Amino acid sequence: MQRGKLLYTGKAKSIYATDDPSLVLIHYRDDTSVGDGARIEQLENKGKINNQFNAFIMQLLQENGIETHFVELLSAEESIVKHLDMSPVECVVRNLAAGSMCRRLGVEEGLKLEPATFEFFLKNDELHDPMINDSLIETFGWASKQEVAEMKEQTFKVNDVLKKLFADAGLILADFKLEFGRSEGKMVLGDEFSPDGCRIWDAKTLKKLDKDRYRQQLGGVTEGYIEVAERLGMTLDLS
Ligand code: TMP
Repeated sequence: MQRGKLLYTGKAKSIYATDDPSLVLIHYRDDTSVGDGARIEQLENKGKINNQFNAFIMQLLQENGIETHFVELLSAEESIVKHLDMSPVECVVRNLAAGSMCRRLGVEEGLKLEPATFEFFLKNDELHDPMINDSLIETFGWASKQEVAEMKEQTFKVNDVLKKLFADAGLILADFKLEFGRSEGKMVLGDEFSPDGCRIWDAKTLKKLDKDRYRQQLGGVTEGYIEVAERLGMTLDLS
């Protein structure tokens, strides 16, 4: 399978058509950005790491009964996925408080959230991804009531599977963001799951091993991603 026409360029990935209209090719680039694209840099190997990280996680989720768009790895930095009609809604689950929750509610980073919280955000860089809710999603037509219920249920299922995966490797999955799209009348998990879109801490030292290393200029960004991948049992091809 080869790259066809460029369909979409995101901040870290490019989507290409393939010779099969039901499939698209995702190229994970080395670009990393903060501030909704205000600062962009290249981090060597990040595309390869995230592509292979995502493939590992999506396959595990599929084995656990969660339908995803992932079809196969094409190369170290490219994957073939099902072509979804994406909803602009982002689903965030938090097990521990961090990031925008701390700023919004004045709670301390690391506060245990039981039960885990669920938030919707609108994918919109110009508006800085505002928080939204079920009512706004339905009124503005970003997803139907049924689709909202499906996204929420699947996001919590993903949390159950991944919280355990990370805990077994001595890691804490503090929070994560998922995006869904429509395929054959169902909401299917799309986009990616990688350290770019979640918070992962070492369970003992609470060392940050995710994109917060970039946001907070802590250094060792891809080194953190690789450490997580290796601790989860992945063998990365970075050649
Ligand atoms: P937040 O604390 O900034 O609201 O983010 C919560 C989690 O979701 C964090 O792991 C980062 C991720 N996230 C994204 O990757 N992209 C987004 O647009 C949003 C809103 C969150």
